[in-house]
This record gives sequence, structure tokens and C-alpha cells, in this order.
Amino acid sequence: MSCRDPHSYTDLDQGRVTHVDLDVNVDFATRRLVGSACLKLAAPASGPLDLDTRTLTITGAATPDGAPVPFELADVDAVLGARLRLMLPAGTTAVIVTYATSPEASALQWLEPAQTDGGKHPYLFSQCQAIHARSVLPCQDSPLARFTFKATMTVPEALTVVMAAAPGSQGPGKAAGTRAFTFEMPQSIPPYLFAFAVGNITSRDLGPRSRVYTEPETLDRSAWEFAEVDSMLLAAEEVFGPYLWDRFDFLVMPSSFPYGGMENPRLTFLTPTLLAGDRSLVNVLAHELAHSWTGNLVTNATIDDFWLNEGFTVWAERRIHEKLYGKEAQALGAAIGRNGLDEALASFGPDSPFTCLKTDGRGKDPDDFYSLVPYEKGFLFVALLEETVGREKFDVFIKKYIKHFSFTSITTEQFEAFLDAELPGVAAQVKAQDWIRKPGVPANAPTFTSAHLAMLKGLAAGWAGGQRPDVAVAKKWTPEDWQIFLQALPRQLSEADCQWLDDNFQLTQHGNCEILCNWLAIAANSGYAPTRDRTARFLGEVGRMKYLKPLYTALHKNAATTALAKATFAKSGGGYHPIARGGIERILSS
Ligand code: BES
Ligand code: ZN
Repeated sequence: MSCRDPHSYTDLDQGRVTHVDLDVNVDFATRRLVGSACLKLAAPASGPLDLDTRTLTITGAATPDGAPVPFELADVDAVLGARLRLMLPAGTTAVIVTYATSPEASALQWLEPAQTDGGKHPYLFSQCQAIHARSVLPCQDSPLARFTFKATMTVPEALTVVMAAAPGSQGPGKAAGTRAFTFEMPQSIPPYLFAFAVGNITSRDLGPRSRVYTEPETLDRSAWEFAEVDSMLLAAEEVFGPYLWDRFDFLVMPSSFPYGGMENPRLTFLTPTLLAGDRSLVNVLAHELAHSWTGNLVTNATIDDFWLNEGFTVWAERRIHEKLYGKEAQALGAAIGRNGLDEALASFGPDSPFTCLKTDGRGKDPDDFYSLVPYEKGFLFVALLEETVGREKFDVFIKKYIKHFSFTSITTEQFEAFLDAELPGVAAQVKAQDWIRKPGVPANAPTFTSAHLAMLKGLAAGWAGGQRPDVAVAKKWTPEDWQIFLQALPRQLSEADCQWLDDNFQLTQHGNCEILCNWLAIAANSGYAPTRDRTARFLGEVGRMKYLKPLYTALHKNAATTALAKATFAKSGGGYHPIARGGIERILSS
């Protein structure tokens, strides 16, 4: 029996969908995609073929020569959605499913013109990771089931479609006032990397292989912020080997995009909160780029192996960062990551199984246990392997690992077997079992220090005893310095301390969202009233969960601002992505 994914109804022994031809109309009036998906199988099959769906309406199923295919939609499971069982006639090689999505599709956000930069046109985008592709098309929604695809998307003629795929042609659609765009993805992808956006979207070339797409109003700022993309691509190829996805384009999203970035192949999606105006947050672009190898070429088999995607990618992101900006910058990045990890560990508790690298997510919604653990504990484990065998040997190992598992989806156990074969004895030497299958961070975790880092942490540690940074010096700190310092400060400060920080450094007006969010969270935890307006406004400006969650949590748990948290959500929650809205509802009802 093939390996089964606990988050999908996929049974690869029934048949394997290896190509999809999608043809959909995007109807902004009813907030639905309506059309068909032709699913092609690797080999002729017969009998049941189980697919994943979520809030889809299935209107028909037939073979390409018109023979009807009986189908049955099972009862809805709260986590998995509804299983669609097709009964394939003997020798079936393809089946065409006609369907419509729901306005509540969990992967899709439909934006009113007022929620876009330009304010004139509506916008639609998808976010399929982890298990939301099934709300866009019926599919074997497991990373184990990779497929290639072709797509035709028909939209109102004023709008442009971009897709994580190679663009083909565009021309008038069948209905008056519409335009049809075609795409092709010749490299196989796991379903969670299926992605597209529709809106008033324009673009600019940044290098021979890279182009930025965004609304016209955001183009100049985006092109400047991410101008270094080509040097990142070259740095990444040195670490991992050749880039196999032809182009590395990216799309700067409307502000409601719920993540920092999403590594959709050929078209990474990025939050506009990265547009700090000083290139201080470009590590997110490096991160999504690094996924082109760790994640998109070598993919986690299931969510329980998610650390293989994210841990290796954070490690790679920091290698790219080190190449471009030096060791000191790399150490600061790692230290910021370690602070985030310690916070996540504290909130899960010392024995939580969610602090193991290999998790058991059976019966649980992946959006509910998403955390920094696979990222930062994963990073520390990979960095420990590198430290143990030495960079030169480890670089050879990484290149071989990527090449060996390219275009496949692997389990943690497959990684361990490869490690044992290639670097015998190393797993035991680093106590890999403790890292992978035990909670918390083992004592042999690498540490990242520098004199500068120690100075910043020392200043924050001395805060309670009355120590303060020299104002003139701190004004010259880099954004990373400020992040370290704010993360290391006590979570609650006196009113006078809050005022001292804000008067001297104008943190409430800061343009770097990492610094702003860190500061507003400290202020909210401290019950500091003068930042409340800015906090409420910020929660209306951004949809990135990394910022929404800590700020709503801080406002909610302080009795003086519980009502403000609720009122802010009532006002702004309608503009959040469905995934973000669900997350905040859980915080406010706790
Ligand atoms: N693939 C993730 C985003 C993701 C993970 C979406 C799980 C849905 C489910 C992406 O590569 C990511 O990790 N983004 C980070 C940025 C990064 C620098 C840590 C983010 O969104 O903050
Ligand atoms: Zn990632």
C-alpha cells in the first residue's frame, strides 16, 4: 500500500492524477469559479477514485468521450472537507469533473475595489497551503500527489490573471466583456503550490529571470525594495545547484495577504508589509526563493514532515543572507529566529508534541498548529548537522539531497535513511532522534553570538535595573538591531518607560512593520493608552497573521482593551482572509 496522508482522502493505490486541464470562469458577481477540471491518470484505472473537495458544488463527471462517471459526495468532515468518490469505468485514463466553488472557499479571498491599492478594480487571490487547494478544484490534495497542469482562466476584460505557471496566450473570452488567459505548468507540483491572482496587475523586469508583478500604484516601491533578486538567485544556485523552474517572478499582494510570503513556483506571493523602504525585510524573498529547492523540488510528504520544507528553507535563507550581507547579519537573523522559537516553545509548553520536528497532526487542522517550531527548531537542527560535518562536506550533501529527491515528496524517515547512507554515524553523533521525536530544543543546539548581539541583549537585560540605551547611538541602530532589542525587552513596561521609548525613537510612527508590531505588542501588553489608535488602525491596514495574532492576543487579554479588540475585529475582520479571520475568532473567543 502507498503511503497515506492523514490530511487527504487520496489513495494512490486507486489511481494517480498526474495532469490536470483546468478551464474556469471567474465570476466576481457571485464570487464563484465555474468550470471544469479534466484529471488525467498515470495509468488506466477502474472502480473508486477518491478526491478531496471543500465547499465545492459538483455538477457532473464524465470521461472525455462522454461516458458518464457516477459520483458521490460524502458528508463533510470539519478538517478534511467532503470526499468525492468517482466510480471509474474500466480502463479510464481521464475524467472531466464540472463544478463550481463556493463564495466561502477557504483558499480564496475576493476583494472589493476599496480593499486594493488602486481602489477601482476588484481582486481575487488564492492561498492553498496547507489543505485549501481542495476548495478551488477537486483533486488528490496531498503533497504526495504531484501533477502538471494547463489552465484557461476567463475574467472580466479589465483584469489580468497571473498564475504560478508559465503564461501562454491571452485573448477575448467566449462571453462578451471577458478575457481568457492560458497557462502551463510543465514541472510537477504538489497541489498546495497551485496559485493564481486576478486584478489590475502590472509588472516590471528586474533581471534576466525575474520580474515583479503588482498593482500599478505599488510598482515603483516594489521594484526598488526587491531590486537585489537576481543576486539572491545566483547566491541560491551556489548553495543548491541549478534553478529548475525557468523563471523566478513574484507578486506583491494586496495588504490582506495572510502570510509574509508563499513560495508558489515561478510566482512567489509576497505581503506588501515587506515594503519598508530600506530593503530590511528582503530575507522573506530569500526564504521563498530558497523554497524553489527545499519544498518545491523536495517536498514534505505530509504536514507531519513540514519541518523538511521550512527548517531547510530557513537554513538556506540564512546562507543566502550570509553570502550577501556577511556573517554578522546572519547571526542577527538567527538570533531573531531563536527568540521567536523560545516564545513558541513557551506557549506550547515543555512537553507538547507540537514541539517535536516530526508531528502527528491526525484529526487536527494544520492551520491550528502552524508555528515557528518547524522553522526555527528545524533550522537549528540543519545548522547543527552543518556544524558537525563542516560546511564543505555539508554543501556536497545538500546538493546531492536535492538532486536525489527532486520532484518527489518525502517523509522524515526517508530523509533519515538518506542521511545515514550519505553521512554515516552523524545522526547518532548529533542525537537526531532527540531533535526529531522529542519535544523542546536539545542542549547541543548551535548558538549564534557576536559582540554586537551581546551588547544589544545586555542592554535589554539591564532595562529592569534602570539601564537605557544611549539615544544618539540607538537612533543609528539598524532595523535588525531594533528587532533584537525589542524582542529582548520585558513584555510589560511602565507607562513612563513606554513614553521614553516612543518620545525618543518615534516607534509608533515606524515604517518597518516588524518593529512597529513588536512595539505595539509591548505597548498593548503594558496597557499603554497612547498607542491604541495606531494599533487599531494597523489592524485595519494589514492582514498578515504574524502581526494580527500577537496584537489581538495582547489587546484581548488586557481587560482595559478587550472591548477594543472586539470592536476592531468587528470593523476590520471582514477584510481579512478567511484563514486569518478564523485564527482571530479563536483568539477572541478564548
Ligand atoms: N510556505 C510558507 C507559508 C505557509 C506555511 C503558508 C504554511 C501556509 C501554511 C512560507 O514559505 C513562509 O514560511 N512564510 C513566512 C516567511 C518566512 C521568512 C518565515 C511567513 O509567511 O511569515
Ligand atoms: Zn517557508
